[in-house]
Amino acid sequence: MTTTPLPPSLIATLPGHYYTDPEIFRQEQERVFEALWFCAVRSADLAAPGAFRTVRVGRESVLLTRSRGGGLRAFLNVCRHRGARLCAEESGQVRRALRCPYHAWTYDLDGKLIAAPNLVRMPDVDRSSYGLVEVALREWLGYAWVCLAEEPPSFEETVIGSAVERLGDTASIERYGVDRLALGKRVTYDVRANWKLIVENFMECYHCATIHPELTDVLPEFVDGFAAQYYVGHGAAFAEDACGFTVDGSAGFDRLPEVDDGQDRRYYAITVKPTVFVNLVPDHVILHRMFPLAEDRTTVECDWLYAPDVVASGADLSKSVELFHRVNAQDFAACERTQPAMASRAYRAGGVLVPTEHHIGLFHEWLTERLATQSPPDACTYVSP
Ligand code: FES
Ligand code: FE
Repeated sequence: MTTTPLPPSLIATLPGHYYTDPEIFRQEQERVFEALWFCAVRSADLAAPGAFRTVRVGRESVLLTRSRGGGLRAFLNVCRHRGARLCAEESGQVRRALRCPYHAWTYDLDGKLIAAPNLVRMPDVDRSSYGLVEVALREWLGYAWVCLAEEPPSFEETVIGSAVERLGDTASIERYGVDRLALGKRVTYDVRANWKLIVENFMECYHCATIHPELTDVLPEFVDGFAAQYYVGHGAAFAEDACGFTVDGSAGFDRLPEVDDGQDRRYYAITVKPTVFVNLVPDHVILHRMFPLAEDRTTVECDWLYAPDVVASGADLSKSVELFHRVNAQDFAACERTQPAMASRAYRAGGVLVPTEHHIGLFHEWLTERLATQSPPDACTYVSP
């Protein structure tokens, strides 16, 4: 932190090593990504029974499957025999079961051990004790959120609560029907920056006038860095001459059916800590999921979601996709420009936040409190035979 007293307009950021130290990143994996609800996959990406995806959550690989009953399940991607990674692929489709490539232990889509070579010659082995280790899963906004904690925190408070905090109620986000929208476009960004730089950037608009010319054309109140998204219930109004939330202000698509007049021609942004950003506009929703890979590297998967009939019609989505794709590229370039300087002696004590960025200090407080929490106890204690 800065060593000289700061004037009231400025508050300190985190010191530089928070963005470069592998030990801090390890603590974040344990106490943030593995302890909280983590948005893993779009549920519709697992369309049919037997579809699976693997996702990195903290230090673990998590395997999500669509079971024969139609529900989603999540497991640690570790074979209960000798620990081989069960599925090495990012996604795939099996008929009925997941078979470990090492010794062929085989699990059904609900994680139950159903076969293993010579299992009949081991009558003392209760196969129900050797199923895959299940991970908590909830669906919201059409995404599967998983939590590795032994006792997950309240989903209502920590996830849905972010939308309530931002919009004032749950009905305001439910009107977009995000779970019923169809994926129009997905872009995956490999960002050479710490995940917190990406969160901090999303939380402020002080940079908007400098780096987002197309966005500020559509949302003129962002020009003066007004942090509109942090006033409960307030959405940034479209420019009078903007017909839609598109790269050139041209018309978008019909308003989503339940979006009300008060939400029309407005943009709302929600940060769901630690790794999700939701952007709501009348005719589509843009949802970012971050996957922190290292202290200086983050994958961001960005989905553009539209009414199913818009996607099915083959309509040209490029004007609305291009707007936020440019915003993403501009933001991630700024984060990548900042990342190397985090290791500079000039940033050893950190930087400062101006008044329109002061709410980022709450994110820093939240993070440092989480890092100070006790490590969760080991789930299993080894007992010598
Ligand atoms: Fe999976 Fe042996 S490690 S069957
Ligand atoms: Fe930005």
